[in-house]
Amino acid sequence: MDAEYQSFIKTLRAGHKPEFPADAKSIEYARLLDAQDKLSFLRANFNIPTRSPLRKRALDGTVPGAVKQLDISNGTKHVKGDAKEDAPSIYFVGNSLGAQPKCVRQYLNAQLETWASIGVNGHFTSLDNSPLTAWQDMAADCAQQSLDLVGAASASEVIYMNTLTVNLHLMMASFYRPTERRHKIIAEWKPFPSDSYAIASQLQWHGLSPSTSLVEIHPDPETMYISTEHILSVIDEHADSTALLLLPGIQYYTGQLFNIPLITSHARARGITVGWDLAHAVGNAELFLHAWDVDFAVWCTYKYLNAGPGAIAGAFVHERHHHHGHHHHSTPDPEKGVDVVGYLPRLAGWYGADKTTRFNMDKVFRPAEGAHGWQMSNPSVVDLACVRAALAVFGQTDMRALRDKAVVLTGYLEWLLMGLLKDNFGEPAFRIITPGNPLERGSHLSLLLRPGLLDRVSETLAAGGVVVDVRKPDVIRVAPVPMYCRFEDVWGFIEVLKTALEEAR
Ligand SMILES: Cc1ncc(COP(=O)(O)O)c(C=O)c1O
Repeated sequence: MDAEYQSFIKTLRAGHKPEFPADAKSIEYARLLDAQDKLSFLRANFNIPTRSPLRKRALDGTVPGAVKQLDISNGTKHVKGDAKEDAPSIYFVGNSLGAQPKCVRQYLNAQLETWASIGVNGHFTSLDNSPLTAWQDMAADCAQQSLDLVGAASASEVIYMNTLTVNLHLMMASFYRPTERRHKIIAEWKPFPSDSYAIASQLQWHGLSPSTSLVEIHPDPETMYISTEHILSVIDEHADSTALLLLPGIQYYTGQLFNIPLITSHARARGITVGWDLAHAVGNAELFLHAWDVDFAVWCTYKYLNAGPGAIAGAFVHERHHHHGHHHHSTPDPEKGVDVVGYLPRLAGWYGADKTTRFNMDKVFRPAEGAHGWQMSNPSVVDLACVRAALAVFGQTDMRALRDKAVVLTGYLEWLLMGLLKDNFGEPAFRIITPGNPLERGSHLSLLLRPGLLDRVSETLAAGGVVVDVRKPDVIRVAPVPMYCRFEDVWGFIEVLKTALEEAR
């Protein structure tokens, strides 16, 4: 079996679909796959919402999966549910909000104890037995823990600050410097709405308009697939007039993973700056941002990174944009948008100042090295503690191993879904709009349901303990996340979906 599991990885990694045996439709087979999974130990790091707390209406001091009751209010009793109710949900929504790592509580407690005990000195003091560094160094520490995650050459290429959309604006303030000749932004047809608003408002900020300066790359209207050739041809068509190419690593709606290295090098060779929104790619796909020569990237930490709702976000700035000579009187080069003898122009704040001079309260801004020089404010340490805890779980494995598991997990899901369609004669109840090629997708598959099915199907899924993401009018996004989802969960999801489709018919 182990050889078979390894051969699945190899086949899928080569961009092909493996032949699962006929008995792969059974729960026993799903459990065999789980037994081969070398990352199955990671699941124990998470509080997977159980079925009853998903319906929780009031705090009762309990946390799913926790043995001991938490003492948060006097007089609450441990609520004993029946075994079925307390079973873990099939939590396939890590592409929206990742499950909670258990160690978040420990990191937050460490922060609370530090603050209570040493107050303001926590900025500069790292206590023994604490998983946290001095508050001032927390963002840099998180950056150091993210090298494998994004493929950075050094921690100076990565910073944690603000939230995704804010960082997108800060990056565009530096990297989108339109000139009369190069003023266009190339994006895709359906960016996440926040990205659309950011792009349109940046254009307006510069006195431009989407009608003249925004180029949208459209998918094939039938399949919703955007071929790499098509992307490259749009780049070629607008090469001379484009300042910035801004794409998602993984398209949030279809789940398509783009060829980041090829698209980046093609655009950069034509003088275009390239930025990526990695909200759905970080912690999901393998990334090599430094080697791929990406100019900048932004991501949130609450999806595959599991740092909690709205947690502090990440940004990448390639090393070639770091070097600066501490000259603040310099002449900008309008074509490159780069202050050639000083540093890249930016919207600056005191936390972006070099750490050695940050507390000198200088009037002159001397940025910290690399991405760290884009920080603006003193960051929330509560937030950083959550990110640091979440990254500690990633520290138990690496992206290569996670991706190995992900291709098999999602490949198995796809195979079972295709089996469902085959077994149900007549008009197919759904179509998978995520690319079939494993190299062109991450963990999630988007199912486009036949019109009219969505409401009833999602009701039955919820009642069956399945948590997925619903995008009206007709799409459900199903994300078996390799960090904490099992092959048995994939099998269980298919069982519930089968019932849901039969009932909705
Ligand atoms: C692709 C993408 N971009 C941007 C955002 C917005 O992120 P935030 O609200 O953290 O700024 C999201 C949120 O889900 C997203 O999925």
